[in-house]
Amino acid sequence: MNSDEHWSSRLMFILAATGSAIGLGNVWRFPYVAGLYGGGTFIIAYIGMLILFVIPGMAMEISAGAEAKDHFFKGFKKLLGKFWFVSFLPFFMCLIIFPYYITINGWVLFYFVSSISGSAPVFTEAVNGWGLALGSILALVIVSIVSAMGIQRGIEKLNLCVAPMLFIAMIFLVVNVMGSSGASKSIEFLTKVDLGALANPQLLIAAFTQALFSLSVGVGIMFTYGSYLTKKSKLLNSITEVAVLDTAFSLLSSLLIFTLVFTFAMSPATGPALIFETLPNTLGLIPFGNILLPLFFLLLFCAATTSAVSVIEVLVSGVMSLGLKRGKALSVVLAGISVFFIAAVLSYSPVGLKIFGMPVINFFDEIIVGHGAPIVMTTMVLALAWKWKNAGRAFSSTFSPFFGKIFYSITKYILPLTILLQML
Ligand code: PHE
Repeated sequence: MNSDEHWSSRLMFILAATGSAIGLGNVWRFPYVAGLYGGGTFIIAYIGMLILFVIPGMAMEISAGAEAKDHFFKGFKKLLGKFWFVSFLPFFMCLIIFPYYITINGWVLFYFVSSISGSAPVFTEAVNGWGLALGSILALVIVSIVSAMGIQRGIEKLNLCVAPMLFIAMIFLVVNVMGSSGASKSIEFLTKVDLGALANPQLLIAAFTQALFSLSVGVGIMFTYGSYLTKKSKLLNSITEVAVLDTAFSLLSSLLIFTLVFTFAMSPATGPALIFETLPNTLGLIPFGNILLPLFFLLLFCAATTSAVSVIEVLVSGVMSLGLKRGKALSVVLAGISVFFIAAVLSYSPVGLKIFGMPVINFFDEIIVGHGAPIVMTTMVLALAWKWKNAGRAFSSTFSPFFGKIFYSITKYILPLTILLQML
């Protein structure tokens, strides 16, 4: 790989992995799924699935990338030999995730701009115009520019500005809403645990999928970011730090959103519309709402941009495996995703493009990502655990022999249980 295709320090890697992890998944998805599954009960299931499966899977992905130190497909070929074709699955996932993720990020940008002027339309009205589509195109342009600049000049600089700002803005927002009347109910909802419900396989699989999605594990991102590491030192610390920061961000978002939900007597279980339809109205109504609302959308846009940058990096790295330079590889990627992107953008526009009776973007989200992500992650991690000959040794030397053994055994023997869980 090129000499500037690596992180300049361990901190930069942590910031990039955290930037990838924190995104729409924390602010939009976590609260609505937690709302559907009873608040505190979901949080306990989430933390359990995170520690049991997702952190070991993440360890496997990062250490494989760090050992391969090569562009995506070439890297997998180095480790898996003739089984390298397994890497098509995560690559395909990113090919679908990227266009839909960037489309939604464009809506956030549209809401940011229109909330500054105090004229944010409700979502059902916004789809009758081209504002959302324009936002999506702009979001794509911004991410493409960062990606074209490369690892150190593009991705690192972006994360260095965005990551600290996210936490400052989120804490500011939370502090501002905590004076509202719904605060204590919100805390109660998020800490109430129904132990009996923890045996519900649907809850467990929802928690597993959310933890995977939120930490960007299982779709090749951690493999790609791991391949830019020069040293493998303190990987366990880095992984723990990313997981703690990501979980803290999801919990802060939930506190913010449920405080608004309970202050304005809404239902916590409204599903995916939770932030896009209801939040803009409520946040605007509390003191300083006219400042807090654009701040919220700006925060969300920045968070999602650092995530989108990580998804396109898998695609760029994949194409660079063919020997192309970054700029050319990026053009190939943009041409490759264009059809999916246009289809995703048109699904919530005056055209209202549908597939099998549902907006195309819902099809991408629910069918391909919702059902595909856990299967793709499990397949990729199992392939690495069983077919990467050096996996056991690499694990012991990267982590301690103790953690190495635990992680290796989990990825090799216990992870397949998640497939059974999905069949229940
Ligand atoms: N982790 C990101 C989030 O929480 C989403 C994401 C998932 C990004 C998978 C890339 C790949 O928003």
